[in-house]
Amino acid sequence: MSTPVELRRLTTPQDLFQAAAEEVIRSATDAVAQRGRFTIALSGGSTPRNLYTLIAANASASLPWDRMFFFWSDERHVPPDDPESNYGMARDTLLSKVAIPPANIFPIPAENPDASAAAEIYEQTLRKFFAVGPGEFPRFDLILLGMGPDGHTASLFPETSALQEKSRLVVANWVEKLKASRITFTLPVLNAARCVAFLVSGADKAAVLHEVLEGDSPAEKYPSKLVRPSEGKLIWFVDRAAASELSAAA
Ligand code: 6PG
Repeated sequence: MSTPVELRRLTTPQDLFQAAAEEVIRSATDAVAQRGRFTIALSGGSTPRNLYTLIAANASASLPWDRMFFFWSDERHVPPDDPESNYGMARDTLLSKVAIPPANIFPIPAENPDASAAAEIYEQTLRKFFAVGPGEFPRFDLILLGMGPDGHTASLFPETSALQEKSRLVVANWVEKLKASRITFTLPVLNAARCVAFLVSGADKAAVLHEVLEGDSPAEKYPSKLVRPSEGKLIWFVDRAAASELSAAA
């Protein structure tokens, strides 16, 4: 069964964040109604900052925060107070502004000087929380992702070792061009989700978005192409600038 792909074209970045916020609220409300809890993995980078700010400002009253559980799909190898920290950004723009129990928040322990150890610890955190054993993968209700101009997503960069991972949930991934390690969910975790939502905004993403959605280059060169939830939904929230090179039919 091929993954249903929904392309949501919005006009402005603010329209994109509004539509994405509505998707988070709808997904959270449905998950809690059906399964008693909502599990979400947040993305980092700059794009989701306005989404988190919008949810904190407008939706905090309408969400069942005590039944919502927050994880991260990747992290830079820095402590939580570092300006580069994805956890730090989400804490400052959303989690510190809403009534979520601290026990419901699961940051990647990227302060650990050993990135591989941090990845292993986080894998065990996921396995315990989702009660999954070897060969099994956690099924998130919603995973938010961004995409870099090179087609990377989470910290799955082109031609890096993490792309080959088939059994681990979380790995440390050395990224030569950044001369840094990142800690990232693996593709099996992304593709086990009930829903994956990409947020892509800005003209600097137009060429790569065209390639990922309409191009025929090998997927390893554009890792976002490899994100195809096997029994889930894939939504692309894109604004007009990012969609400027897509064919009208896309
Ligand atoms: C990170 C992200 C990464 C991000 C893209 C897009 O840790 O940086 O998880 O995958 O989503 O690099 O970043 P921007 O939103 O800043 O363009």
